[in-house]
Amino acid sequence: MARVIYNTASTLNGFLADEQDSLSWLFAVGGGEAPDTEAFLRGMGAIVMGSTTYEWILRQERILEQRGRWQELGYMASLPAFVFTTRSLPAPEGADVRFVRGAVADALPEVVRAAGEKDVWVMGGGDLAGQFLDARALDEVQVSVAPVTLPGGRPLLPRRVESDTLELRSAERFGQFVHLTYGVRRAAGG
Ligand SMILES: NC(=O)c1ccc[n+]([C@@H]2O[C@H](COP(=O)([O-])OP(=O)(O)OC[C@H]3O[C@@H](n4cnc5c(N)ncnc54)[C@H](OP(=O)(O)O)[C@@H]3O)[C@@H](O)[C@H]2O)c1
Repeated sequence: MARVIYNTASTLNGFLADEQDSLSWLFAVGGGEAPDTEAFLRGMGAIVMGSTTYEWILRQERILEQRGRWQELGYMASLPAFVFTTRSLPAPEGADVRFVRGAVADALPEVVRAAGEKDVWVMGGGDLAGQFLDARALDEVQVSVAPVTLPGGRPLLPRRVESDTLELRSAERFGQFVHLTYGVRRAAGG
């Protein structure tokens, strides 16, 4: 069965984005080497995100302004993308973007089915990842920690999660990033 993996970049003090939803702090990290998202993506069969993250991608990549732009995003764009939202949002032409709402447990069977033999990438944000954790639906947390702190922003995982739930599996250095992989003990609290 597919594993469900929350994989994201974060500041050292646990923010995914600043208060204006900007990732300029992330793109400014020097030193070249960073974890290879494309390699990670090849193991994924479906992606999941909240609407703020989805709308950020639409804006950042100017998806709706140009036909076929979504498809140019590469392998990611070939995957079914599940966007959690209570609103009616546009989908790029020809893209497999599926809008879902409500409890993670209700959406999960379709997400896992769509991923087939592969894994599910929960992109974020943090509260949505927390909803997966609450639903005992998260298997792994991977965080690329940048040498950056911010005074505030969008939190990595706004839940109380203790060491009976997360177990460190690996810590790798990629240039200025440390990539941490934690297994989630599904039976434990979270
Ligand atoms: N550093 C990184 O690598 C990284 C990775 C991912 C994201 N980001 C950034 O981090 C920020 C994340 O922001 P965020 O945590 O505030 O948002 P988010 O998870 O992307 O989106 C939150 C929104 O999703 C919708 N939603 C969440 N759960 C839902 C549910 N169960 N049912 C229906 N709708 C639901 C709600 O919006 P509506 O109902 O109003 O639509 C909610 O306000 C964004 O700026 C994103 O670009 C950074």
